[in-house]
Amino acid sequence: MNRTSSLLAAAVLGIGLTLTACGSNSTSQQAADGAGKVGVILPDTKSSVRWETKDRPALEEAFKAAGVDYTIQNAEGSADTMATIADGMIADGVTVLAIVNLDSDSGASIQEKAAAQGVKTIDYDRLTLGGSADVYVSFDNTKVGELQGQGLADCLGGRPANVVFLNGSPTDNNATLFSSGAHSVLDAIPSITNVGEQAVPDWDNDKAVTIFEQLYTAADGKVDGVYAANDGLAGSVISILEKNRRAGQVPVTGQDATVEGLQNILAGSQCMSVYKSATEEAGALAKVAIALAKGETPQTSATSRDDTGNRDVPSVLLTPVSITKDNVNVVFDDGGQSRDEVCTGQFAAMCSAAGV
Ligand code: BGC
Repeated sequence: MNRTSSLLAAAVLGIGLTLTACGSNSTSQQAADGAGKVGVILPDTKSSVRWETKDRPALEEAFKAAGVDYTIQNAEGSADTMATIADGMIADGVTVLAIVNLDSDSGASIQEKAAAQGVKTIDYDRLTLGGSADVYVSFDNTKVGELQGQGLADCLGGRPANVVFLNGSPTDNNATLFSSGAHSVLDAIPSITNVGEQAVPDWDNDKAVTIFEQLYTAADGKVDGVYAANDGLAGSVISILEKNRRAGQVPVTGQDATVEGLQNILAGSQCMSVYKSATEEAGALAKVAIALAKGETPQTSATSRDDTGNRDVPSVLLTPVSITKDNVNVVFDDGGQSRDEVCTGQFAAMCSAAGV
């Protein structure tokens, strides 16, 4: 090769590497590890900020650290888009496919197709009922609900209370588990009365505003506490409480320890959130994916019941942590959020007051 053509070859290679670097790691590492290529499909950008701001970077870090070739895409709330992305990833040669399903039926058909092509599948965060995932990686979601229920009970401090329940998407098995965990705690407290309950389709924060306002009005405004399944829904609830000059007086639960959720906790308009480390969950997924890609049996520590598919799915279930104003530093110390991002503007003084 003369100098010009070798320079040209280097340039072409360089471009190739730059392009692959956008969506995935360089394929040379694949050969080194024999770990195949892992595809991950995230659900959307709106049901929680966690997927793009926390899960994606944590997954990238975990796969890079393990030297595994990967590609991560987002279905933007469309089950059809998720199916198309899955087809593309399978055609592209992924050996392991992890999905956060948008509903169990569409998730199950993606997994069935994948399995037919010899691709191993993982349920990431949400269990696909009637699906065929080899492994489920998530948190103990019933425990998440119990923490939310206990958090609300603690914030109410034993006083008689009318509580409204704003559940997550009816198509998300997690939402069912969160709600049943919360009910197991709150229904056992005689001084608490359920005065309204509804699920929010697709965890849609805008719909949540309308739904909560209707429940609030139907209860004649006699609402003393709100179970909101995540921080986004909590934000919707707080906007209506603000409109009615009740924000800060009515404890509201949440989940995900988002920037907004933590700021609401510091401001006193939200009583608690649940921290689920993305680093831990992504790390667990990477470990399971690598084992599956190598044809090994991944280490699991539990099983999750899928009544639709009538099977117990081998699972890794991590431990969630309840967050209130008193222990908000847990999230910062663990790197779950940065103090700089939360303690801006009007929140700086609140952070100091809370010892952040
Ligand atoms: C996740 C929550 C998230 C919600 C909305 C659930 O399946 O476990 O962390 O807030 O979906 O995206």
